[in-house]
Amino acid sequence: MLYPALFVFSVVGLLINSGSLPASSEPRVKDAQLRGQYCMQQNIIPRQSSDLFSHDDITFVTQASLNHAPLLRRHARLWDGPISATFFIDSILKVPKTISLLQLLHGCDEAIARTTSIHIFYPPSSNGSCFWSPHIVADNCDRQSIEDADFVFSTLAKPSQTQPYPINIARNFARKGAITKYLLTADIELLPNPGFVDKVRPLLASELRNKTVLVVPSFEIAAGLSELPANKSALYALARKGKAFAFHHFRSGMCHQMPNMEKWWISGDGGQSRVFARVPWIRPCWEPIFVSQADVPYYDERFKGYGKNKIQQVYELCRDNYRFAILDNVFVVHEKISILSKEEWAKIRPAISRNNDIFQRFRRELDSKYPNARVRQYCDAIQTVLAL
Ligand SMILES: *[C@@H]1O[C@H](CO)[C@@H](O)[C@H](O)[C@H]1NC(C)=O
Ligand SMILES: *[C@@H]1O[C@H](CO)[C@@H](O)[C@H](O)[C@H]1NC(C)=O
Ligand SMILES: *[C@@H]1O[C@H](CO)[C@@H](O)[C@H](O)[C@H]1NC(C)=O
Repeated sequence: MLYPALFVFSVVGLLINSGSLPASSEPRVKDAQLRGQYCMQQNIIPRQSSDLFSHDDITFVTQASLNHAPLLRRHARLWDGPISATFFIDSILKVPKTISLLQLLHGCDEAIARTTSIHIFYPPSSNGSCFWSPHIVADNCDRQSIEDADFVFSTLAKPSQTQPYPINIARNFARKGAITKYLLTADIELLPNPGFVDKVRPLLASELRNKTVLVVPSFEIAAGLSELPANKSALYALARKGKAFAFHHFRSGMCHQMPNMEKWWISGDGGQSRVFARVPWIRPCWEPIFVSQADVPYYDERFKGYGKNKIQQVYELCRDNYRFAILDNVFVVHEKISILSKEEWAKIRPAISRNNDIFQRFRRELDSKYPNARVRQYCDAIQTVLAL
């Protein structure tokens, strides 16, 4: 339980941490930096314990629009490592309220407070300023306040104006907020199976050398199940009942399908993870989710909105000669089977076409960074099938 006085204290503490003004003067947050188009504010709400995790842990690196912020409660219970989460706020006018709600979410949930550091970014006001004045809406952790806050998150998420979601800026900013040597970067809607970090930890030091990433099979499961599948056999039982599929199975076909799934399902279950198979980039549009060292290429921030925003990084891994080692016994699930309607496809078509153009430029820009012609031919051959 967080008492009102403590909550106010945490707001004040935040201001003291981020600026030199005494608490009594007009509160300002000075450490938001205008970088390019956005005001970036790292660790606006830091995790409470700084010594709970080691450098050798895996940070769950995630970003989300505000309506998904309450999902942090699930992650903080499932993920046995630190979490670094970025939220995009599409108008500076929403910043004070959003921060007070994020503080309620963080301060009222011991698991989130312990594990999660939160970062935000937002467009500056019209005079280029990142300034905002604090606004305190909620001051206690009773159930009603928390439910109200969850509702307000969804209203704050409604776009103020149509602008494509700067997804790769969000991903990179969350990643810069991670302090560990290893990362798992995934959308907030993808929930890991329990004990993930412990199952994978013994593999990290030996497998992640030599330009390898550890691929985490990703799935979507029917909405409204009473519990998440905790292990592969529970997940397989769902798959056989038509209640679990590869992630985005009905949306982008093979983009998340693992090779040799028939074997993966029946290989040893429970216990530690191990490498199930080692493959190069195998298929057009294959965009696996993976655990990596913190030195993999960043996402290209020109990609905004739907289309190519993730595949561009995987393509770069291919050009950089990375190998993909597929993990056993660990996975992530999306709790809804996602199908886009014709109208929804029509809405994202402009973003797809814009991002396709950016991708063609991006691809050629890599030629000087990775001049190996043989590798380029291989990666392009895979990529070209997609363009047909
Ligand atoms: C910019 O605008 C904000 C309000 O949006 C105001 O508080 C601030 O003083 C302005 N800054 C400058 C440098 O004009
Ligand atoms: C990593 O690469 C080096 C040099 O290419 C090689 O000697 C070593 O065996 C490789 N290690 C692993 C774990 O593959
Ligand atoms: C897998 O999880 C289910 C519950 O979801 C449990 O009943 C079963 O014992 C678990 N199997 C193994 C091998 O851990």
